[in-house]
Amino acid sequence: MAQDTHVLAAPPEGASADWTIPQGWEHYTAEDHATWDTLFARQSKLLPGRASEAYLRGLDVLKLSRPGIPDFEELSERLMTLTGWQVVAVPGLVPDDVFFDHMANRRFVAGNFIRRPDQLDYLQEPDVFHDVFGHVPMLADPVFADYLAAYGRGGQRALGMDALKYLGRLYWYTVEFGLVREDGDLRIYGAGIVSSYSESRFALEDPSPNRIGFDLARVMRTEYRIDDFQQNYFVIPSYEDLLRTTLETDFAPLYEEIKALPDIPVAAIVDGDEVMTRGTQDYARAKGG
Ligand SMILES: [Fe+2]
Repeated sequence: MAQDTHVLAAPPEGASADWTIPQGWEHYTAEDHATWDTLFARQSKLLPGRASEAYLRGLDVLKLSRPGIPDFEELSERLMTLTGWQVVAVPGLVPDDVFFDHMANRRFVAGNFIRRPDQLDYLQEPDVFHDVFGHVPMLADPVFADYLAAYGRGGQRALGMDALKYLGRLYWYTVEFGLVREDGDLRIYGAGIVSSYSESRFALEDPSPNRIGFDLARVMRTEYRIDDFQQNYFVIPSYEDLLRTTLETDFAPLYEEIKALPDIPVAAIVDGDEVMTRGTQDYARAKGG
């Protein structure tokens, strides 16, 4: 995630200058691998018909020579031949410039720890299941792979423009919680959704959230919640469209335009929205949100 306040100022002991650490695959316990296998089996069963075709195709890249948590080296070799991406381990969240530098150079930073078996559905910070099962399949898609690298370059440029808040929202509503239209149906592709048993269904099937056509400026003005299901999902027409919009937009004047406008609250519908579902927001209301 691009934005966080609990980031260390320098690489912790044992990390390289670029903040990477060894994955330490040999240190995983049988229980760790079993947790991965449980989560993998559960999500793989749920996702056909819900996840984007690109995501489902990309899942194959995770089927490595050994069961359990993927070995990042083997995973990177396979990913490298497909789209030039690698997966590198980092100790939790890293500073923005480090994050963007890795991404611009097609290195996806991932946590190496896995959640505890009694916390299958509870996640305080992204673990290896979220980062690898959630993100890596989309990195095997050439167009999405280009989008993420372009995002990294955009992040490097945004660092000096006081615009990370806006760019972070783009990441949130695409890479983490994006929906895509495929053959007339909505499909999930955001890592935060595809790696979550409950949100995989909520994002598509629950009447609570708004589902709104993707518009870059609108998305960058929209607040989000990090502690529960989203109240808005944004739907892209295709990955090609997302990539093209990102590459063709001159972000610097757009940031200036957006800075003069108010942020849009999480559940709001605004003029110009292409509303696909006007959500009831019942779920958020029941939770007191
Ligand atoms: Fe993520």
